[in-house]
Amino acid sequence: MRGPTALAELEREIAASGTGLDRLRLMETPFVPEVRLHLAEDAIVWWARMEAAAGRALPPPYWASVWAGGQAVARYLLDHPELAAGRRVLDLAAGSGLVAIAAALAGAERVVANDIDPYAIAAVTVNARANRVAVAVSGEDLLDSEVGVDLLVAGDVLYDAALAERVLPFLRRAAAGGAQVLVGDPDRGHLPAGRLELVADYPVPTTEPAVDSPVRRVQVLRPW
Ligand SMILES: C[S@@+](CC[C@H](N)C(=O)[O-])C[C@H]1O[C@@H](n2cnc3c(N)ncnc32)[C@H](O)[C@@H]1O
Repeated sequence: MRGPTALAELEREIAASGTGLDRLRLMETPFVPEVRLHLAEDAIVWWARMEAAAGRALPPPYWASVWAGGQAVARYLLDHPELAAGRRVLDLAAGSGLVAIAAALAGAERVVANDIDPYAIAAVTVNARANRVAVAVSGEDLLDSEVGVDLLVAGDVLYDAALAERVLPFLRRAAAGGAQVLVGDPDRGHLPAGRLELVADYPVPTTEPAVDSPVRRVQVLRPW
């Protein structure tokens, strides 16, 4: 699936009439009501319909849900806009683009949302539009490279051991290179011991798939 095709498909989904669990809807983010996102009523049901229509497997639509870690980082940026104002910001593993949009609303000079899922790139595009902010997109895997930004933000990217093994050195390299780095994590079990400073701790309402509790404790951390 190429980027422009994913964007056309999401635009069609958004414009489609009708309601139901297999639909997308523009909704307020529970912990960040300043931002509205096109999210699935039920991401699993939406995913099943899209796979059936495509006749092949599609990547899990992480961008179609709001994640606790991203909500915490977005909340922190909107409550401390001086961190992003006038800065060059990269949102790593952006999903829906919630954190990137919060950085733009906080007055960032330039925001890039990065994700390897073409549908996430399309979702960032439609969500930035819905919030009337400018967010550039990048679909490359950046984890083995160096990035020159002032602020690197990452919500809920440590959800898997193999990914955490690549993401943590990337974040540390960025911090060592002079970037401010903020990570939001609801303790998914892959946070390293040490070399992380706690900057905020929030009870975040969540509608993530397969999570029973309506609230998760989320830490916003600064790796060094
Ligand atoms: C749990 S979602 C979090 C999305 C968003 N940051 C938030 O908090 O709402 C994780 C995202 O990581 C993306 N991802 C996985 N591996 C990646 C990589 N190597 N580079 C960039 N994004 C990646 C997935 O496509 C997915 O959109």
